[in-house]
Amino acid sequence: MEKRVISTDIMEEDYKIENSLRPKLLTDYIGQEKAKANLKIYIEAAKAREEALDHVLLYGPPGLGKTTLAGIIANEMDVNLRITSGPAIEKPGEMASILNNLQDGDLLFVDEIHRLNRQVEEVLYPAMEDYVIDIVIGKGAAARSIRLDLPKFTLVGATTRAGMLTAPLRDRFGVVHRLEFYTLEELTEIVLRSAKVFRVEIEQEGAVEIARRSRGTPRLANRLLKRVRDFAQVKYDGVITNKVANFALDLLEVDKLGLDNTDRALLMAMINKFNGGPVGLETLAVSIGEDSGTIEEVYEPYLIQNGLIDRTPRGRVVADKTYLHFGIS
Ligand code: ADE
Repeated sequence: MEKRVISTDIMEEDYKIENSLRPKLLTDYIGQEKAKANLKIYIEAAKAREEALDHVLLYGPPGLGKTTLAGIIANEMDVNLRITSGPAIEKPGEMASILNNLQDGDLLFVDEIHRLNRQVEEVLYPAMEDYVIDIVIGKGAAARSIRLDLPKFTLVGATTRAGMLTAPLRDRFGVVHRLEFYTLEELTEIVLRSAKVFRVEIEQEGAVEIARRSRGTPRLANRLLKRVRDFAQVKYDGVITNKVANFALDLLEVDKLGLDNTDRALLMAMINKFNGGPVGLETLAVSIGEDSGTIEEVYEPYLIQNGLIDRTPRGRVVADKTYLHFGIS
């Protein structure tokens, strides 16, 4: 039977847009070697035993391929993929209904799983552990609970903030993987692959330039590739060369390290308003009018990984590399 992808909400659009670029098999998935090698074995073992794969938690900064990996796992296991997200499920009954409608072996992907509310999360505990849900029928003194058996399913949870997961939920995942930023070589390979999917001609040095400015993130690399493609098409003869890539990316205000306007605002605020730090996250967030959670989840990981910011017990500090990058002494 043809396996289906069923999404519950707004995620469907996102999923479809990026879908053409998503690899469908582990062998086509570039990078994340450790996660890939491990998953390959777990998938093979589960298939041989004809069991559902153990529950998988994927965490790490946005855009590194958590949803893509969930899709690949479903594909490799040859099961249906059902997609939803933490904020989309508001009531325990909704979660119960989603679980109850799964088929044997199905993969339920819950993005932003740290945003599930407590009552909804509690439905997941017995579901993950024993494949059952307890449903309360009636009210007051007449209320009683009945236990429903669920199909054997696999929950794949994704989060940008593993630290915000409650211990009981985290403990119920048998497989936990942190996704890492991609290397320049891996990102270049992804850009070349995506260009092939788009049927756009690209030179190696054009791909390297896009990769260099993509902050280690495939989602960004693919987004920049699309924009550069537009420039190549309209201003040049359609081929993405190093020159076209440089020209387009400069116009897009993505600098040589992949920093965008928000990154620059953040770093410049640290330098100009706080003397290079240390400065607390909340203070910094207020000073540039950005949400502190977004800074912590989206912007900071790359800046820290690249040695532009250091985290100290007293707050964030600008590193020497940042002054060099901006030509400030
Ligand atoms: N497109 C987006 N992420 C990818 C990855 N990790 N491998 C191959 N293609 C991708």
